[in-house]
Amino acid sequence: MSQTQILDGKATALAIRLEVAAATAKLKAHGVQPGLVVILVGEDPASQVYVRNKDRAATGAGFAVSTIRLPDSVAQADLEAEVLKLNQDPLVHGILVQLPLPKGLDAGAVVDCLDPAKDVDGLSPRSVAAWTLGRPGHKPCTPAGCIELLDRHGMDISGQHMVIVGRSMLVGKPLSALALARNATVTVCHSRTQDLAEHCRRADIVVAAVGRAKLIQGDWVREGAIVLDVGINRGDDGKLVGDADQAQMMGRVAAITPVPGGIGPMTIAMLIKNTFHSAAHSVGVDPEALLTEAAACTPGAGT
Ligand code: GUN
Repeated sequence: MSQTQILDGKATALAIRLEVAAATAKLKAHGVQPGLVVILVGEDPASQVYVRNKDRAATGAGFAVSTIRLPDSVAQADLEAEVLKLNQDPLVHGILVQLPLPKGLDAGAVVDCLDPAKDVDGLSPRSVAAWTLGRPGHKPCTPAGCIELLDRHGMDISGQHMVIVGRSMLVGKPLSALALARNATVTVCHSRTQDLAEHCRRADIVVAAVGRAKLIQGDWVREGAIVLDVGINRGDDGKLVGDADQAQMMGRVAAITPVPGGIGPMTIAMLIKNTFHSAAHSVGVDPEALLTEAAACTPGAGT
């Protein structure tokens, strides 16, 4: 048994949000306040919680935030018109359509309407092309949060074998591209993968992103591996549990992200950062220069 490091996404996300808040105060001197609009369709309880958390974090960073709530009976054309209208609004720098959309609505067609400059989720076709080709543009928040969490803990993924369980557009596919761009060796597993446990055992880093409680067992990962648990599931007792059996990982793996308090808060921090980038670009300011300046004088920076 060895000590397992807990990769505290909550603390790291807070440090990032403080940096962005400090950089936002500097950006205001250039006459712009980052504006984020979240579109929430229907009444899905989990989506309502996520949207509330995004709203709070963005407001805390000094952004102008609004949530447009639409009934699940909204017509596809009206939803798309809403996005097209926001594309034209100069006070809006980031637009996020909370997914999944209720049945009957075509999420792909809605995402296709997003102006790539305001697509802070990195899901529009131009954004997908950019992160696939390694060009500048917004990167999806959850995979970007995975990489940033490792970076901020001094964990270099270059040459490491990352096994991603799950091939969603929100996590698995974009993470495979981002990790490849950082010179990781990447395997993507999914529901048809044979011998999933064997693939996981060959990983230096296992990323669990399928949405099945405790799917990844302790003896599926080698001792000393790193586990990023992206899943957020409700257990039988109503508590949140990840896609990895966290209790079985303790003392076995070198490091793991907790659920809650791991990748979830990092996703929100990346949304805040992406929106800040959009706002800075809209007035020709280099966002990274302001963020670096802010990090130098923010307590907890570099966490
Ligand atoms: N639903 C769950 N995660 C996400 C996310 O990162 N972006 C959007 N738009 N919807 C989500």
